[in-house]
Parts: sequence; structure tokens; C-alpha cells
Amino acid sequence: MHILCSVLLLASLVCIHSSSALNKVWEEWRINHQKVYANQTEHVFRRAVWEKNMKLVLRHNQEASAGNHSFTLGLNHLADMTAEEVSEKLNGLKLEDPVEFRNNTFIKDLSGLTLPQSVDWRKEGLVSPVRNQGLCGSCWAFSSLGALEGQMKKQTGVLVPLSPQNLVDCSTYDGNHGCNGGYISKAYTYIIRNGGVDSESFYPYEHQNGKCRYSVKGKAAYCSNFHILPRGDENTLQAWVATVGPVAVAVNAMLQSFHLYKGGLYNAPDCNPKFINHAVLVVGYGSDRGQDFWLVKNSWGTAWGEKGFIRIARNKNNLCGIASFAVYPTL
Ligand SMILES: *[C@@H]1O[C@H](CO)[C@@H](O)[C@H](O)[C@H]1NC(C)=O
Ligand SMILES: *[C@@H]1O[C@H](CO)[C@@H](O)[C@H](O)[C@H]1NC(C)=O
Ligand SMILES: *[C@@H]1O[C@H](CO)[C@@H](O)[C@H](O)[C@H]1NC(C)=O
Repeated sequence: MHILCSVLLLASLVCIHSSSALNKVWEEWRINHQKVYANQTEHVFRRAVWEKNMKLVLRHNQEASAGNHSFTLGLNHLADMTAEEVSEKLNGLKLEDPVEFRNNTFIKDLSGLTLPQSVDWRKEGLVSPVRNQGLCGSCWAFSSLGALEGQMKKQTGVLVPLSPQNLVDCSTYDGNHGCNGGYISKAYTYIIRNGGVDSESFYPYEHQNGKCRYSVKGKAAYCSNFHILPRGDENTLQAWVATVGPVAVAVNAMLQSFHLYKGGLYNAPDCNPKFINHAVLVVGYGSDRGQDFWLVKNSWGTAWGEKGFIRIARNKNNLCGIASFAVYPTL
């Protein structure tokens, strides 16, 4: 139903000529996404940002229907934010120095290994439901826990959503900064040091920094080590995703086309692998009409992308930096 509405909304946008019609679309969007602004100044500003994004979405989708893009954009809940705001408030991955992990880097011998054409760990029950990090730079916690949830499920047979709030509140000592950002590696450092991490149901998410309330009573996972994959090597990433399970990765999520991504194969040529600012989870891979893709879980809610997932072009010279910093934990 929600998707249908969005499609109708976009179709009707094509016919907009008058500002009153535009106002109507804006009001509908605002109600749909339950947007309430603090004052008139804020309202006017948000409206202007939204209108700019709306025009971008329209133009992009027209180009897409002409065959120029393999993905579409949509007016999702981020459509009243500028690219800078999204990068500031919804990303929060700190840059890791791969040199630091030279001894943790796994070189796998890929010769003689036959990998499946496609993998989707959701089908094996290794992937918990998509969550929404809100206006908190905690992507690093969702991403690292996503990989751990998969390994725990493989070990115990039970998929238990783990607590990003636990990491946000308790891993400052390990070098993380809660909602102000953090590192995938330091999330694991904390879990190893702490001897475990709580479940989401025991220690629920609050979208903001809080006091550390870890309790062993809520402990639902542990890990003993983590491994970094060779930098920028999509073949190795594929091998590990196929044989190990979901892998935590860092990507460039700075472009508006990423923020407003709605569906299809994300193949934005300007998604530079050098600019990494967001942590997500690779849960599989495949090919669509001859185009290889990575199947990626985000933490921006189910209204974003393909029910919270994005398919990023694979084997396109490490597009968006998908293989630049890939990590998985061992139990
Ligand atoms: C309007 O709200 C914004 C956002 O909360 C705030 O920064 C700004 O100071 C407010 N302006 C006025 C005039 O109250
Ligand atoms: C669409 O793609 C064609 C062929 O690559 C190109 O010539 C054209 O300029 C593109 N149009 C737009 C609007 O990007
Ligand atoms: C890697 O291992 C070598 C040999 O054990 C050691 O000398 C070096 O300090 C380690 N490097 C890091 C970054 O831990």
C-alpha cells in the first residue's frame, strides 16, 4: 500500500504546473512522514529543501525511464534534509586505518573455490529485521551487530536481534563516540573486552546517547576476534559472503542519489570509493540482467530503498568503496 501510494504520488508530480498542486503534494508528503517543524522559519526552509529534492527525484526518474539509470529515486523520509545534514546526522562511520589491521587481514586462497552465482542470507534466516537508526550516527553499531547476529544464528540456530544502544552507550572507552560516530572494529573490541553484548529486547534502542546499562542478564552474543578483508578486493568479499555469512562493510553514502534511493541497481558512477562515511551490512550478492550487485542492508528504516535494502553494483571497481573496509567477527 505504501509503495503504491508513493508511485501514484510520483506519477502525479509529472503533471504539476501550479504551486497549489505542489503545495498539496508537499502537505501529503508531510502527513505521510509525520513531519512537524518547530516554527515557520524551519517550515519554509524544509519546504525549500524538499522542493529541490523533489525536482532532483523527478529529473532522475525521467532519465531512468529513458534508460539512463538502473535505479530510481523517491521522496522518502529524508527528502526534507540536505545532503550535508544526512551525512552529518545519519552516517557517523569514522575512518579506520587499514595499516593498523595488517595482522588481522585474512588472505584467502580463492583458487579452486567455486562460488554460487547468488547468495541471500535472508533466506537462511541470518538477517534480522531492518531497523532505523534515527538522527543518531550509530550506523557502525547496526552494521557490526548485523554481522554478529548472522554468526550467532549459525552457531546456535536462533536469530536474536542485538542491541546497538548497548554499543552506543558503553564503547566510548574503546574509542567510539555513540551517536557522534564510531568504528566497526571498535564495536567488536568492546564486545570482546566486555565478554558479550545484550539483546535488543533487553536493551532497546533510544536514538540518543545514554548511560551504559549493560547487564549479563541480557547477554545474547559474544565474539572472540574479528577479521578485516583485503582492501578493495571484491572477489575476496564475495568469497567470504558466500562461505561465512553477512559481512560488515563501509561505504560512501554521501550522494543524494543514495539518500533518496528507492529501488533498482545502484550504479552511480560518481560514488567514489575513496570517500567512506557509512557502515552497512552485505547480506548477499547476485546478478540482474547481466549486472552484478551486492545485496546490502541499511539501517534507515524500511521506507528507504527496497524495504530497507539496497542493491549496489558489484565488480565495478569497488563502487562506493564497498570492499574498502570489510569486517566479520568470529565467535
Ligand atoms: C526555529 O526552529 C529552529 C529549529 O529548531 C531553531 O534553530 C530556530 O532558532 C528557530 N527560530 C525561531 C525564530 O524561533
Ligand atoms: C542518456 O544517455 C545517452 C547515452 O549514453 C546520452 O547521450 C544522453 O545525454 C543521456 N541523457 C541524459 C538526460 O542524461
Ligand atoms: C603485527 O605483527 C608483528 C609480528 O608479530 C608485530 O611486530 C607488529 O607490531 C604487529 N603490527 C600491529 C599493527 O599490530
